[in-house]
Amino acid sequence: MSQEQTHIPVMSKEVLEGLNLKPGDVLVDGTLGLAGHASEAAKILGPEGWLIGIDRDSSSLSLAEKNLSEFFVKKSFIHSDFRYIEQILSDLNVDKVNGVLLDLGISSFQLDNPDRGFSIRLNGPLDMRMDQENFISAYDLVNSLSERELAIILKKYGEERWHYRIARFLVEERAKHPIETTRELSHAVLRAIPAHNRHQKIHPATRTFQAFRIAVNRELESLEMALDHCVRRLAPGGRICVISFHSLEDRIVKHKFRQMAKDGLLNVITKKPFRPNDEETLHNFRARSARLRIAEREEE
Ligand SMILES: C[S@@+](CC[C@H](N)C(=O)[O-])C[C@H]1O[C@@H](n2cnc3c(N)ncnc32)[C@H](O)[C@@H]1O
Repeated sequence: MSQEQTHIPVMSKEVLEGLNLKPGDVLVDGTLGLAGHASEAAKILGPEGWLIGIDRDSSSLSLAEKNLSEFFVKKSFIHSDFRYIEQILSDLNVDKVNGVLLDLGISSFQLDNPDRGFSIRLNGPLDMRMDQENFISAYDLVNSLSERELAIILKKYGEERWHYRIARFLVEERAKHPIETTRELSHAVLRAIPAHNRHQKIHPATRTFQAFRIAVNRELESLEMALDHCVRRLAPGGRICVISFHSLEDRIVKHKFRQMAKDGLLNVITKKPFRPNDEETLHNFRARSARLRIAEREEE
């Protein structure tokens, strides 16, 4: 099936202003995606600058490389998890950087490809791995964890009110045959949720999909680990921008920034996170839940 290879960067102008880059700076884009934000940043960095782009998804990385081919800036493309930023920068012999961008979650390019198994709308294999070299997929979790473990994942990573019921239904369903597709998962969740609660603003399986995606990719763990390392590698005056798409991520960023500000490492620029304006959410539905937090590294 042909697939659009696009992704509209969220809050692009605010991110660019937030990063406050100058020609010749070094920027780490820890979630390079299709390089939407990075392309704008590359124009500022210029031929003396260095763009270090990281992504767990090798197909996104290849597209980013193509999308950035016309920009005159030094570029490094790293297929890895941003949680390893320390090691990545050491391998590149980079001590300090001037900016770090983390635009969390997945891109439209990944979401809209049914074969990746991220989408509730499109039927496909139950995969959800950002890094296709990882061993564990959503299929493995859904079909092999105990009922209790499933319920914990749904509660912890999906904040799903019906976590017990959904876990029980999944276990009953997979006793008949393995749950292999996104459609089978979303149908099982629909059946588990009491009829009078099925009519919500969002699809009733949204929280379940979020929960398994976070668990498969260990997303919150990556974010927790990375924030300290990123900030430690920022030069004084360097900026970090983080865009999150749900409250679990945003809470981690808020608390980490607050703690690092108390420790004298950071000056938090956004006391409240920036949100996209109405015009942006009108043109880019995916932006509706985005929150951008920005902080600046203090002098040592
Ligand atoms: C929202 S998209 C970024 C889009 C990008 N800013 C753009 O404008 O094209 C998030 C990207 O980050 C990647 N990603 C998510 N978590 C990651 C992690 N822990 N380490 C590395 N890449 C990650 C995903 O594979 C995806 O390509």
